[in-house]
Amino acid sequence: MPPMTFGTDTGKNVLVADFLDQVEVELPVLGDHARLTLAQAWNESELAPYLADTDVMILFHDIARISEATLAAAPRLKAIVRAGVGYNNVDIEAAGKRGIVTCNVPDYGSEEVADHSIMFLLALARQLGPCDQSIRDGKWDYKVADAAPRLRGKTIGIVGCGRIGTATALRAKAFGLDVVFYDPYLPDGVDKALGIRRARTLDELLPQCQFLSLHCYLDSDSYHMIDARALAALPRGAYVINTARGPVIKQDDLVEALASGHIAGAGIDVFEREPFDNEQLRAMPNVFLTPHSAFYSREGFVELRRKTAEEACRIVLGQPPRNPVNLGYLVEPRTPVTQPRARV
Ligand code: NAI
Repeated sequence: MPPMTFGTDTGKNVLVADFLDQVEVELPVLGDHARLTLAQAWNESELAPYLADTDVMILFHDIARISEATLAAAPRLKAIVRAGVGYNNVDIEAAGKRGIVTCNVPDYGSEEVADHSIMFLLALARQLGPCDQSIRDGKWDYKVADAAPRLRGKTIGIVGCGRIGTATALRAKAFGLDVVFYDPYLPDGVDKALGIRRARTLDELLPQCQFLSLHCYLDSDSYHMIDARALAALPRGAYVINTARGPVIKQDDLVEALASGHIAGAGIDVFEREPFDNEQLRAMPNVFLTPHSAFYSREGFVELRRKTAEEACRIVLGQPPRNPVNLGYLVEPRTPVTQPRARV
């Protein structure tokens, strides 16, 4: 299939690497300033024909990784705009060393992901699964909800208190939950500003939590952070919610903890391998599964595409991007960037 090309030939080329098959949101933003090509690729090798003359790459989530080899084959590439919050599918260090800025869109779906986490929490606590199933089985007995705890006063532990963690904490407070977070990278005072408690270590957090909700990004530190040892540190009967990234939990260890009954249930939107392929987890009744859909709302998705196109447009026009994520690695940037102001 020939590539789909839109916009104006101004000498600047924006490549949408994956996922999009139409441009009704992007064209009004970028169409006068650049030629826009949709590659609809599923892996890096399918991008090869476009790399020589790409100035800005927009990347969704179908391509597992943009690695050094792809960056090396893109001599004009100034920036990669990741259409999403997480950017673990880009080698941001390799990009930075080549002067390529990597940006994300940090704020289009914070509320949706927080809503999704609370949806899991309520569904698990209120025994939605067994209640719904019992009626479908022709029964009528409130005692199927026997395990339901009262929420007020129970403790929810939040790992990663950034945008989504904060939005989740505020929602949890409204239900009377006692909120405690662990986030080693935040300065002192966040707990006071939000009116929640802080744990200084994961080991301090876990034994307190009837609910554990994950909101950190995925990196080498958070990879498999929630493993058998961490799960064992949660009280028996705790619930685990993951809308962050699959590999933050060691999935096999979670399956074991669920099977043993130590973990009472889980709500999971993100998995070690996507698309989802874990038959043991699929068969478990005490688990809610969603297809990495926590980010999505109709309005939020349009906002994501518009903000992605706007960031790409700023770079095409030689303006500094708003949301660079690899300034720490950036050497001789190929496009202007604004360094953050020192905190006072
Ligand atoms: P953010 O950058 O505002 O917050 C992340 C927080 O995690 C930061 O405060 C950081 O200090 C903390 N953190 C990092 N490593 C940690 C660790 N090892 N232990 C404890 N805390 C740690 O990001 P935001 O917007 O809140 O998003 C969080 C994550 O949610 C994203 O990185 C992404 O992976 C995931 N996400 C999932 C979506 C979905 O559809 N399921 C949609 C959007 C984001």
